[in-house]
Amino acid sequence: MFRTHTCGELRISDINKQVTLAGWVQRSRKMGGMTFIDLRDRYGITQLVFNEESDAALCENANRLGREFVIRITGTVNERFSKNANIPTGDIEIIVSELHVLNAALTPPFTIEDNTDGGDDIRMKYRYLDLRRPSVRRNLELRHKMTIAVRQYLDKEGFIEVETPVLVGSTPEGARDFVVPSRMNPGQFYALPQSPQTLKQLLMVSGFDRYFQIAKCFRDEDLRADRQPEFTQIDCEMSFVEQDDIIEMFEGMTKYLFKEIRGVELEGQFLRMPWADAMKYYGSDKPDLRFGMKFVELMDVLKGHGFPVFDSAEYIGGICVEGAAHYTRKQLDALTEFVKRPQIGAKGMVYARVEKDGNVKSSVDKFYSQEVLQQMKEAFGAKADDLILILSGDNTMKTRKQLCELRLEMGNQLGLRDKNTFVCLWVVDFPMFEWSEQENRLMAMHHPFTHPKDEDVDLLDTDPAAVRADAYDMVINGVEVGGGSIRIHDPQLQAKMFEILGFTPEKAQEQFGFLMNAFKYGAPPHGGLAYGLDRWVSLFAGLDSIRDCIAFPKNNSGRDVMLDAPALLDPSQLEELNLVVDVKEK
Ligand code: AMO
Repeated sequence: MFRTHTCGELRISDINKQVTLAGWVQRSRKMGGMTFIDLRDRYGITQLVFNEESDAALCENANRLGREFVIRITGTVNERFSKNANIPTGDIEIIVSELHVLNAALTPPFTIEDNTDGGDDIRMKYRYLDLRRPSVRRNLELRHKMTIAVRQYLDKEGFIEVETPVLVGSTPEGARDFVVPSRMNPGQFYALPQSPQTLKQLLMVSGFDRYFQIAKCFRDEDLRADRQPEFTQIDCEMSFVEQDDIIEMFEGMTKYLFKEIRGVELEGQFLRMPWADAMKYYGSDKPDLRFGMKFVELMDVLKGHGFPVFDSAEYIGGICVEGAAHYTRKQLDALTEFVKRPQIGAKGMVYARVEKDGNVKSSVDKFYSQEVLQQMKEAFGAKADDLILILSGDNTMKTRKQLCELRLEMGNQLGLRDKNTFVCLWVVDFPMFEWSEQENRLMAMHHPFTHPKDEDVDLLDTDPAAVRADAYDMVINGVEVGGGSIRIHDPQLQAKMFEILGFTPEKAQEQFGFLMNAFKYGAPPHGGLAYGLDRWVSLFAGLDSIRDCIAFPKNNSGRDVMLDAPALLDPSQLEELNLVVDVKEK
């Protein structure tokens, strides 16, 4: 047997046992005639002891071990004199009798400990060393547990896991595709799937009425903390269902995962909030409901009193921050600077404090009588010591988004976004389309296969912008962890949708003919959703970026710095692929 135990499992009950362990040298300390080594493997750390008096040669060998050397030892479990309460094996140590060096190691470029001294870039370059750090390893263990639990739940519910291809065709709509040249078909390209959307719909036509897949998806879009160019979806689809059936099934899965992985029992039904309300009250389609500060609109109260900024505004709205009237002028100035940052883009911020006696003192007192300010206080239901923050602007949606940023910032500043509190909700009734300034046309807000709400179908001809979709997102703590919709299964309605999106019938046939033709052969009503696995794991692990739960992630420029990819191709490879590269200077 190569080893009898792992470094995380020996306890006081194992005293006097002869054991063999293998792992990496975490740290070595020499104290008098004794050498202490912390041996680490995936399961924990065990202290090894070498005694010069009992075996000088062995101790000398131990003194030559460097950090991250791979060793195998045999020895006897002993009760530790000075216990270490921080680790589960802290009561014992191993008095080593045999030592084998399995491999030497260069000194690692950063310390392999939870609080490492390595910066982001260096850790990504040596990701295989970074993954040795317990904090990073734990994220991958959590991810593993989640995928196992997902498979357990869905299998029990009769879902079948089907793999779909990764080399598919490029389709318009959605994000930019990653493409792959085909050697056998000169000048032609595959695309990597942005999601298995149309393929899972075809599986419904094939009669697999409950499908899932833990699927790699690829999108060439600008990266953020919650976006990677390749990421993983828990992709699901069901036939013969309505929106409520899907919501119920996946609310069930969400509760199961919370219980299995986090030990959290989520009671009752999740809140369902129409998209229009989410935008109106939180300025976001993914509101963080761990705290209040719901928006209050103030057009009626504050417009027309001679304050030019508000008098010319299309939207005036604010939030009431409970008990925050103590915010100093300096803090309020900093908040004003915050909302004026180019990424947020507000022109300024108005504030008002409710004083102990109930009077309101605002930064625009000279334009408003105490009577009007009291009406404003009423509108918020504000009390003594509350702070009111107000933004205005000439574009309602934009101003609401700015107010959303301010609300989240206040949530952060006041510690209201606790990573161990979870609030789940469904955002429903999304608009079917959104206007694209860039393309000067309507675009599908979710995707072009989404079914409009039955009661809004007639509006497709008269007022498409007002059509709502049978689409839903699951939002946890302000993170969109998943989304889906009921799909169109009628070829004519699908054709109409493409028409509204600006496709000629020929173009629609060329791009999506496979789907519309399939629908002519008996397509069941169907719908589904996809969860972003990376986002969900990072939420459960309390991470700030999804990168930390991905074994080998890309950096913000989409590079894998460890593999040094993407990279130039050898000219012979390009020739074989019939490609000529002509990079234009930007
Ligand atoms: P959607 O595009 O909303 O829907 O994606 C589903 C979920 O995938 C996650 N996600 C991402 N995670 C990390 N990096 C990215 N770049 C990224 N993009 C998306 C999000 C999101 O909620 N086919 C449809 C689903 C359906 O209709 O069934 C789809 O892909 O958590």
